[in-house]
Amino acid sequence: MTSKNTSISTHDLHCQFGEVRAVDGITFEVQTDTLFGFLGPNGAGKTTTIRLLLGLLEASSGSAEVLGFDTRTQADQIRLNCGALLEQTGLYERLSAEDNLDLFGRIWHIPATERAERIRSLLEKMGLYDRRKEMVNTWSRGMKQKLAVVRTLMHNPKLVFLDEPTDGLDPVAAASLRDDLVDLARQHGVTVFLTTHNLAEAEKICDQVAVINKGKLLTVGSPDDLRLRKSAHTLIVVGRGFSESVVTDLRAMPDVEAVELQDRHLVVHFKRETDSGNLVQFLAGKGVMIDEVRKGKASLEEAFLALLEEQA
Ligand SMILES: Nc1ncnc2c1ncn2[C@@H]1O[C@H](COP(=O)(O)OP(=O)(O)O)[C@@H](O)[C@H]1O
Ligand SMILES: [Mg+2]
Repeated sequence: MTSKNTSISTHDLHCQFGEVRAVDGITFEVQTDTLFGFLGPNGAGKTTTIRLLLGLLEASSGSAEVLGFDTRTQADQIRLNCGALLEQTGLYERLSAEDNLDLFGRIWHIPATERAERIRSLLEKMGLYDRRKEMVNTWSRGMKQKLAVVRTLMHNPKLVFLDEPTDGLDPVAAASLRDDLVDLARQHGVTVFLTTHNLAEAEKICDQVAVINKGKLLTVGSPDDLRLRKSAHTLIVVGRGFSESVVTDLRAMPDVEAVELQDRHLVVHFKRETDSGNLVQFLAGKGVMIDEVRKGKASLEEAFLALLEEQA
């Protein structure tokens, strides 16, 4: 049973299309009020997972609960309480922004006064209020995408699914939408489940990330957790007295993947997690004066690529 603090929980969820295992036994939880990033390359199974969670697709096996509702039997409740932006924006291009939102507000049976107030406050937050009378087909892709996000929030959902919301936006528009997403999540107390193949994006805004590839979940944790796991493989030594022979000897060691020497910094990449003791001993034996030893900081992207490699 999903607890109050858990917005999504899946248990050994599978979805197969013919021979393709689009989702291959994933188990994870999303805590309420987090901005959760679901990361993976194209074809990893991200959209399929969202469709399963919204009850738009039936799982081949396993189970999932969203806001405490079973995706198999209570999909109506899930769709009532969640917002979703999938590949299509769902906007009417020939209506104004305001009329689009008003229409969706009516579909959700939001009373007129509340509807107008909600449209105003959401559009203001997105910096689009002054342009509300303009027809959507005259808008830039970035503005449309913001409006599409506003649409998903019209009925005050507790949880929104955003499938690659910044895909295809230029960097400025993407950054602006990201800022808005963070603000909205914080101010409205909305839990956000966002898919992306953009690691830098996830690193900037997500509290928690899961990495999926070929339908399998490779890891779940904070971006920092992931970076640290990878960075345990790299040690940086700051010191004096490094020689070419030190570098050559290190490179020949079975656990060492690569060595770089830049001025007073020696960077050693190991094949597996390593503590610094052996390295320090070795360097001291070679007459190196060591000022500092620290773990290297991997970017989320490096951690992500390392995970994909481990799986391959
Ligand atoms: N309706 C479908 N019919 C057959 N195969 C599908 C269908 N939807 C997705 N797939 C396949 O499932 C895999 C995962 O797709 P998808 O969930 O769309 O990935 P992502 O969103 O991560 O790019 C892909 O190999 C895709 O071709
Ligand atoms: Mg997709």
